[in-house]
Amino acid sequence: MLSKGYLSSLCLLLAVPVSESIPFSSLFSKRDIDILDKRTTLPSIDGSGLRTGIHFTANSACQIPSPDYGPMEHCPQSSVLVDPTLKHVSTDGSYETYKTIQAAIDAIPNTSRKWTILVMAGTYHEQLNVTRAGPLTILGQTYDPLDKSKNLVTVIGGTANYNSRYTDNAFTSTLTVAPNLNASLTGAGPTGFTPPDDTPFGNTDFRVYNMDFRNTEFDISNGPALAISISRANAGLYFCGFYSYQDTVYIGKLGNAYFYRNEIAGQTDFLYGFGTAWIAYSKLLMRSCGGGVTAWKGTNTTFANTYGVYISLSDVVAANSTIATSMVGRCALGRPWNYLHRSVFMDCYMDASIRAVGYIPWASNPAWNQVVVPGQTLMGEYDSYGPGANLAGRAQPQTQNGVPVVVTTELTGAQEKQYSTPAKVFMDPKGKLTSTWIDSQFYPY
Ligand SMILES: *[C@@H]1O[C@H](CO)[C@@H](O)[C@H](O)[C@H]1NC(C)=O
Ligand SMILES: *[C@@H]1O[C@H](CO)[C@@H](O)[C@H](O)[C@H]1NC(C)=O
Ligand SMILES: *[C@@H]1O[C@H](CO)[C@@H](O)[C@H](O)[C@H]1NC(C)=O
Ligand SMILES: *[C@@H]1O[C@H](CO)[C@@H](O)[C@H](O)[C@H]1NC(C)=O
Ligand SMILES: *[C@@H]1O[C@H](CO)[C@@H](O)[C@H](O)[C@H]1NC(C)=O
Repeated sequence: MLSKGYLSSLCLLLAVPVSESIPFSSLFSKRDIDILDKRTTLPSIDGSGLRTGIHFTANSACQIPSPDYGPMEHCPQSSVLVDPTLKHVSTDGSYETYKTIQAAIDAIPNTSRKWTILVMAGTYHEQLNVTRAGPLTILGQTYDPLDKSKNLVTVIGGTANYNSRYTDNAFTSTLTVAPNLNASLTGAGPTGFTPPDDTPFGNTDFRVYNMDFRNTEFDISNGPALAISISRANAGLYFCGFYSYQDTVYIGKLGNAYFYRNEIAGQTDFLYGFGTAWIAYSKLLMRSCGGGVTAWKGTNTTFANTYGVYISLSDVVAANSTIATSMVGRCALGRPWNYLHRSVFMDCYMDASIRAVGYIPWASNPAWNQVVVPGQTLMGEYDSYGPGANLAGRAQPQTQNGVPVVVTTELTGAQEKQYSTPAKVFMDPKGKLTSTWIDSQFYPY
């Protein structure tokens, strides 16, 4: 919730009652935006993560379209515009306009300066690939930056690695952030592809706000079809959507990704990778049951690592009520892509689609170490609630290579504390904790 002081000063400023039903754009004149633009303190979002009333963030002045001023008038310095119609071009040379998002990405100089791309409302048919190391923020135009369901920008692109027609799943993604091709290759088997030691780290601070990314080649699981692929890079995804069926989210080696108030849809193994993902206040939408929600692979390092996927304060639910009835008790929380798999659901709501046992063993290919090794594999949960939470069911052994094993770990409070905030798990390549690249407006921990 926004602070009371903030709300009352804003009401005074606008002199109109604030209501969800008034289109946000009409509340702001150019003068209001000028004043808001100069604010140094931003509304904070409290621990509940909820808010009512005015929807304003540090980026709002740039993101919210208005008939009173040009799209770039309130964007930060070093911004470029994506406008497929090329209707909006700078008359004084203060910004450049590009027809596609990738053209804008490619035009940004390879420096350490922070750049911003404003993407005008619309649907873009592209695959995006960010190799730049310097900070980059991509903003989707929206009338309501704090409501993902009102996003106006959609990127549709990517394909599926159907019948292994590509040499690597890396080629399928709608959005890729990695310094080069080698860094993004998924490879095969339990350890995947290991890029050469001299492969650089990529983007240190990549952010996207209010954009949806869809890989739509097939509307079923028909081979890996990534919507997002982050490797050797730090990425923050705020109020975004990622939609596919198989392997929707891939966080590769030395990849860090923080998802805040996202919607992520998939069917089979739709959160996978080697890196670290933190998913907060989001919706994981199951479009059917296949594999598991998580299929992480761990990596040996010289230091004790915390690579894995952490889902916090989120909903794990059937994508819609039509399919929900046929999914009851069928979807697995995850399965071990290798025995160092680490995934933890913390304080999540689970609907009736989730199997009583929670996670499941895999063991399809013993040579690939797709097995649960008690004490090494962590397929965990803490304080799950809703019809899919089931402590008695989770305690039931399952058969793995003919042997009964309990695969789901119910974390104790002390165990959960090890992983209870993003600051405790995101690591740089040397194993040092790093979370300064996360937008502090959207860090409710
Ligand atoms: C961008 O700059 C980095 C750091 O200077 C360098 O390693 C990289 O090769 C450059 N990339 C391109 C495409 O020039
Ligand atoms: C991303 O762009 C780089 C630089 O042009 C290229 O080498 C790489 O193959 C691209 N990645 C993908 C997945 O297409
Ligand atoms: C990619 O990795 C392969 C295999 O290690 C290596 O031979 C090649 O030189 C690498 N390419 C680049 C651009 O680093
Ligand atoms: C429900 O989700 C399934 C799977 O994504 C989809 O095929 C179907 O069209 C959806 N139905 C509705 C009513 O949205
Ligand atoms: C990790 O190291 C152990 C011991 O050397 C080895 O047996 C195992 O296969 C390695 N696991 C992975 C996933 O690389």
